[in-house]
Amino acid sequence: MKECVLDMSMTIRIFDTVRDAGIYVATITEAVIVGNQSPVLGLATGDTPTAFYQALINLHRCGLDLSQVTTVNLDEYVGLDANHPQSYHYFMQMHLFSQTNLSSQNTFIPNGAAPNLIQECARYDEILKAHAIDLQILGVGVNGHIGFNEPADMLLTNTHVVTLREETIASNARFFDRTEAVPRQAITMGIQSILQSKRIVLMAFGAEKADIVARIATGNVSTNIPVSILQLHQNVVLVLDRESARQLVDNYGEVNVQE
Ligand code: F6R
Repeated sequence: MKECVLDMSMTIRIFDTVRDAGIYVATITEAVIVGNQSPVLGLATGDTPTAFYQALINLHRCGLDLSQVTTVNLDEYVGLDANHPQSYHYFMQMHLFSQTNLSSQNTFIPNGAAPNLIQECARYDEILKAHAIDLQILGVGVNGHIGFNEPADMLLTNTHVVTLREETIASNARFFDRTEAVPRQAITMGIQSILQSKRIVLMAFGAEKADIVARIATGNVSTNIPVSILQLHQNVVLVLDRESARQLVDNYGEVNVQE
C-alpha cells in the first residue's frame, strides 16, 4: 500500500459488472424518490449511466412511479437541436424518458440550439434555482471533467458555454461518424450547481477511467482535475467496476469492496 491519503469521506463501491453497479444506483435513486413529494434528479448522458437507466426503467416496470420526479440534465452540445441523434435531448428520450412515466413538463435539458446562448444559460440557472437537486448522477471524462466543466485555471460556478478540450472531442468522437462532426462547444451546468446537490453518485467504468479515478480522492483539489472538487462535498458515492478501480486499489489497497 502506498503512503497516500485517501479521502474516505467518499463512499466507494466496486462491482464486478456494470449491470450490478447500475442496479445499485437505481436502488439509491428509488430511495430518494419514494417518500419525496417532488424529487429532483440531476442526470448525465454518455456510456456510463446507461446501465443505471436500464435498471431504473426496470424498477419503473415493477411499479416505481416517476410521474412526480423532475429531472435536470447536466449539459448539451451547442448547435444540436433536440432531434439530432447525437444530442443529449435525443439520448435522454431514447435511454430513459420514452420508457418511463416521467412527465415531459418535468424534464429539463439546456437548449444547445437556442439563438442566444447567454440567455439560455440564465434561463437554465433559473430552472436549477427552482429545483434543488436531491441526487446528482455524474460520469467523469478521461480528463476529469464533470458535466462539461473542463480542466482549466478557473472553474465556473453557474451554467455556461464551454469550449470542449481536444481530449473530450477525441473521446466523444466514438458517438459521431467522424471527429469533425463533434461540436466544439457545449452548455454545461456549473460547479456550484453540482456541489449544491444534496447527494452525488459518480459512476466510472472501464480501464480507460482507471487513471482519473485514482486522482479523484487524493486529498488535493485542483481545477485542472475538476472531479477532485467532489472532495468538498459531504455526500458522494463513487460507483466503480474492477477495471476503473484498479489503480485506486493498487494505490490504497482494497477499499470497501462490494462482493
Ligand atoms: C455527460 C457528461 C459527461 C460524461 C463524461 C463521461 O452528460 O456530463 O461529463 O459523464 O464525459 O462520458 P462517458 O460516460 O461516455 O464515458
